[in-house]
Amino acid sequence: MLAVVTGGSGFIGSHVVDKLRDRGIRVRIFDMSKPRNRDDVEYYQGSLLDIDAIQMAFSGADAVFHLAAIADVNEVFESPLRSEAINARGTINVLEAARWAKVKRVIYGSTIWVYSEVADSEVDEDTPLGSPTHLYTSTKLVGEYYCKAYSELYGLETTVLRYGIPYGPRSRPAGVIPIFVRRALEKQPITIQGDGLQFRKFIYVEDVAEGNALALKPQAANKTYNLEGNEKVSIKELAEIVKRIIGDVDIQYTEGRPGDFEGKEISNLRAATDLDWHPKVGVEEGIRRYIEWYKQSEEAKKNLWTTVDKSILE
Ligand SMILES: NC(=O)c1ccc[n+]([C@@H]2O[C@H](COP(=O)([O-])OP(=O)(O)OC[C@H]3O[C@@H](n4cnc5c(N)ncnc54)[C@H](O)[C@@H]3O)[C@@H](O)[C@H]2O)c1
Repeated sequence: MLAVVTGGSGFIGSHVVDKLRDRGIRVRIFDMSKPRNRDDVEYYQGSLLDIDAIQMAFSGADAVFHLAAIADVNEVFESPLRSEAINARGTINVLEAARWAKVKRVIYGSTIWVYSEVADSEVDEDTPLGSPTHLYTSTKLVGEYYCKAYSELYGLETTVLRYGIPYGPRSRPAGVIPIFVRRALEKQPITIQGDGLQFRKFIYVEDVAEGNALALKPQAANKTYNLEGNEKVSIKELAEIVKRIIGDVDIQYTEGRPGDFEGKEISNLRAATDLDWHPKVGVEEGIRRYIEWYKQSEEAKKNLWTTVDKSILE
């Protein structure tokens, strides 16, 4: 079996590649950037805006995991046109190329942000969605609509996965966990706005990747699944976990809003019953693994720097 992973050089996509390789699946990455963490996969460099390149990359593929996107909401805010082109047009390009290459299944990486405008506090995949106020969510939702339309109109099997808030090795440096870890390792105090009792749910990136691999199952055809974590954790608890692991860290509280939990309860029951998907890595263990990876990657950067011939800078 050959699976193409668009965005396979990115944070989540690189873990999807790992999970597929663990299952012995042949993998080809389609991405503008080179894969960073393994060289035992095929790599096709190209853009989602280049339909010919996508078509060539999909040749012979049985499945496509479509994760390439502008995934950073701040970048979407800064560059709306480019983001719309890559996330929305890029997704229809992927579906069209998959149709022509007779790909059996396209698995699309969406987000639980699509529930942002829903008033209910408990939601599942059948909850009617409101119209999004953020451009990022609009572009991701358009991708979902295109998947549905390609299933209906052309019989192309698609599966939509709405990821929760992922964390773990290879993640971007922004985000509460990377920031707390970085400050703690630099012996800077971790600062929390308010009482830190605001709760969040996170999902370890390898659990998200496992959900992608399981989405190849026949019963996932033309379905949508939430890949949401189980554990509710407060910002204060996150800081305490980081302190427990790294030690000798000062946690400071600044003026701010009191604790709230405006987050919705997003059901992951369908993924559990249909796909036998269950998040396995708890927050403390996940943060421990993230810290391990972060330290190693910082060390590797330092070593790289010492091997550079400094004369090139003169
Ligand atoms: N990270 C999150 O918090 C999160 C949450 C929910 C859903 N998602 C979705 O998951 C997917 C992966 O997100 P991520 O966090 O791994 O992002 P990422 O930025 O780490 O990876 C995205 C990859 O897409 C590639 N890419 C961007 N534009 C491209 C183009 N025009 N052509 C080809 N490749 C291009 C980039 O080079 C990068 O390797 C995205 O679709 C995102 O919307 C992310």
